[in-house]
Amino acid sequence: MAATVTADGRARVLADGNEIPLLALGVWQVPEGPETENAVRWALELGYRHIDTAQAYRNERSVGKALRDSGVPREEVFVTTKFYPGGGKDAETEAQRSLERLGVEFVDLYIIHWPQGGPTWAWDGMQRAQAAGYARSIGVSNFSVSELDALIEVADSRPVVNQVQFSPFEFRRGLLEACEEREIALEAYSPLGTGRHLDDPRVGEIAKRLGRTPAQVLIRWAVQRSLIVLPKSTHRERIEENAQVFDFALTDEDMTTLDSLDHTGGTAAARESKWW
Ligand code: A2P
Repeated sequence: MAATVTADGRARVLADGNEIPLLALGVWQVPEGPETENAVRWALELGYRHIDTAQAYRNERSVGKALRDSGVPREEVFVTTKFYPGGGKDAETEAQRSLERLGVEFVDLYIIHWPQGGPTWAWDGMQRAQAAGYARSIGVSNFSVSELDALIEVADSRPVVNQVQFSPFEFRRGLLEACEEREIALEAYSPLGTGRHLDDPRVGEIAKRLGRTPAQVLIRWAVQRSLIVLPKSTHRERIEENAQVFDFALTDEDMTTLDSLDHTGGTAAARESKWW
């Protein structure tokens, strides 16, 4: 199924009908306190309308504080958090705890962080969290194709996103195609390879020719594929730079060059793998 992107090219319509902004600020590994508060507040000031956190990040309180301090109305910001599956707890109960920490009445998206303990056991709690109004949409993260299929088999309502590490260097076409076929939007975390991909000369060449930065090229590659993309930064100028990806386009040739950087291996298994 082709992704439905909104007229302004900045958001995508999920299978459940909810709209999700393509660009998010990710706050993985950003400690609770001023660092998270500043990054989120700056992002909101600079026009981001999607923040991606998780119970395991332990910074939901700071995300919530920055949301309130920003003065941006709650309904204008898409907030994602993730269920931590390591403790074997109930996803609905844990959603309530997240809402308390965030200081919001609902999250826009609630995701199983990874399929620990198997891909299906937590889904009932996720569905209850959605039915209770704690989450508008529900999805998963770090799921392989077979894990998605195992979940779909038992789910009353299927996940609408799968958040995985994804970039030109971790370009698992099989996983992307399988997600699209199942009407599951792919969310790309670590789109800069946690910074490692920024020094690649082939990315640098494209950036130089376009008068852009390597980070913008990598983020644009995801946006141009209608993927949801979650670059992380704690620096204001980088947060600003990473958002300037809607006023230029990569050529077909640039896209082909970037696609060819995939280093996850050519085997069918690698192409569908959730890990790189
Ligand atoms: P910092 O948070 O210190 O700004 P990813 O999104 O792939 O996980 O990458 C995040 C890493 O890339 C972080 O170390 C972040 O550093 C760095 N980073 C994010 N945006 C930029 C940018 N525009 N230029 C250079 N480094 C960046």
